Amino acid sequence: MAQEHAYDYRAVKGFAISSLFWGIVGLLIGILISLQLVYPQLNVTSWLTYGRLRPLHTNALIFGFTIPAAFSIFFYLVQRLGRTQLAFPGLAKALLYLFNTAIVLAALSLFAGMSQSKEYSELEWPLDLVIVVIWVMFAIIIIGTIVKRKEEQMYVSLWYILATVVGVAIVFIGNNLVVPVSLFKSYSVYAGANDANVQWWFGHNAVAFVFTTIPLAIFYYILPKTTQAPLYSHRLSIIGFWSLVFAYLWTGAHHLIYTPLPDWIQTVAISFSIFLIAPSWASVINGYGTMKGQWEQMRTSYLVKFIILGITFYGLQTLQGPSQAIRAFSALTHFTDWVPGHVHMGTMGWVTMTISAGFYYMLPRIYNTELYSVKIANAHFWLVLMGQLIYSVTMWITGIRQGAMWQAMEADGSLVYSNFIDTLTPNYAFWNMRTAGGIIFFAGFLLFVYNLYKTIRLAPKASSA
Ligand code: HEM
Ligand code: HEM
Repeated sequence: MAQEHAYDYRAVKGFAISSLFWGIVGLLIGILISLQLVYPQLNVTSWLTYGRLRPLHTNALIFGFTIPAAFSIFFYLVQRLGRTQLAFPGLAKALLYLFNTAIVLAALSLFAGMSQSKEYSELEWPLDLVIVVIWVMFAIIIIGTIVKRKEEQMYVSLWYILATVVGVAIVFIGNNLVVPVSLFKSYSVYAGANDANVQWWFGHNAVAFVFTTIPLAIFYYILPKTTQAPLYSHRLSIIGFWSLVFAYLWTGAHHLIYTPLPDWIQTVAISFSIFLIAPSWASVINGYGTMKGQWEQMRTSYLVKFIILGITFYGLQTLQGPSQAIRAFSALTHFTDWVPGHVHMGTMGWVTMTISAGFYYMLPRIYNTELYSVKIANAHFWLVLMGQLIYSVTMWITGIRQGAMWQAMEADGSLVYSNFIDTLTPNYAFWNMRTAGGIIFFAGFLLFVYNLYKTIRLAPKASSA
């Protein structure tokens, strides 16, 4: 306990609050764009059109919610796992201010319609430069803390943290190499199919190094801590880590099946996508193995519920993803709602549930207090679970139907649905159900934020600074 005071949690607290704030913004925009798809009259001004708000939704939840959650929880984990104080705490404080300024500018630029027209890489070059500075600061703090650690062993969470630092840096810089033509406009240095290939190399590695390595670092720390059970296999965790980071880098072209990209590149991506089942499931098996003899905790501990449902959705996601990469499956589901169904099982299930477990575990500890209400945490769990299932299942149903309608042919080979609009309007009922799922999920998220706010309010004065 005496050691507790040696840790520096100021940036941990600041980034936690940023993440929760931008999470609320991103989810609200998600609900609005889900409505705009059915009620186009909600596109009230150019600043609030679907085309501008969709990237705002994705950017707010990737860069505004997930990344600062990682900054926060990683700054906690590197200190605890290294048994040392955060390196460069002043830099961490500067990072907090720079980061939030950048997110505000990013949101304004997207509202104003500025875009590089690359998914998840929409921000124009001046903001990309700021992001590079932010990432270098983040890397210095993380690597600096790991280098001066007092614990010789590097637990697997630290490997996943390092993979996030290095992986994001490589793919972000690779995809954002542009020729600026003015302060707010630039063109990619790549052309045509090459540009698409680099874009999806980046795109799927955003999935790898934001939506996979971040929650995995949290998962591997919280699960044994919460259950008080030893990790099922350290060897499996390390084999899983190295094979995962190796394989992910080759899978990007599975977003470009049946495109002008050379067939062999698509085949390499498909092969690595299928291979990825193994390292992904190494973590799922490690999770379930750790629970051996502990399953009753699924009833008694809200934290275990979040973490085990989270890894279960990860397991399902990493079976669904490789299936989608196969040519015959992609032909049916690509461009349909099936894909947002896949995305949101991962983001609303795996990513958000694991980050929630991370905050629930960490915040009461660093504020020297107890969680305000376990009842509210349980209500949060059931609401986000229900909201996410409604979202994903409705999108899978309507996605398969869309694919089938687009492929349906008369006996003479002509299309049954030659008017595209006829394949669009039947989706409306499902899209409305998705909005309902989103609202239920958002209600759960609000309970989460309220619970954490009240927890922080319970903190003794000395800990709440
Ligand atoms: C074994 C692991 C995985 C594989 C092989 C995989 C495969 C795929 C494929 C083939 C697509 C493209 C579907 C299409 O457009 O037709 C896709 C889309 C996507 N996946 Fe996965 N997936 C995996 C895991 C995950 C995980 C864990 C997440 C976490 C949230 C995730 C998030 C996404 C996102 C965000 C997209 C949409 C990209 C876009 O079009 O904007 N995937 N995935
Ligand atoms: C209230 C919950 C949410 C709602 C209502 C919602 C709604 C939406 C909608 C309507 C789209 C566009 C789908 C389309 O193109 O047809 C979308 C895309 C997306 N959302 Fe969400 N969302 C929610 C939560 C989240 C969360 C928590 C994350 C990430 C942490 C996220 C990340 C994404 C991503 C990456 C895409 C792009 C998917 C693609 O290109 O296929 N969303 N969301």
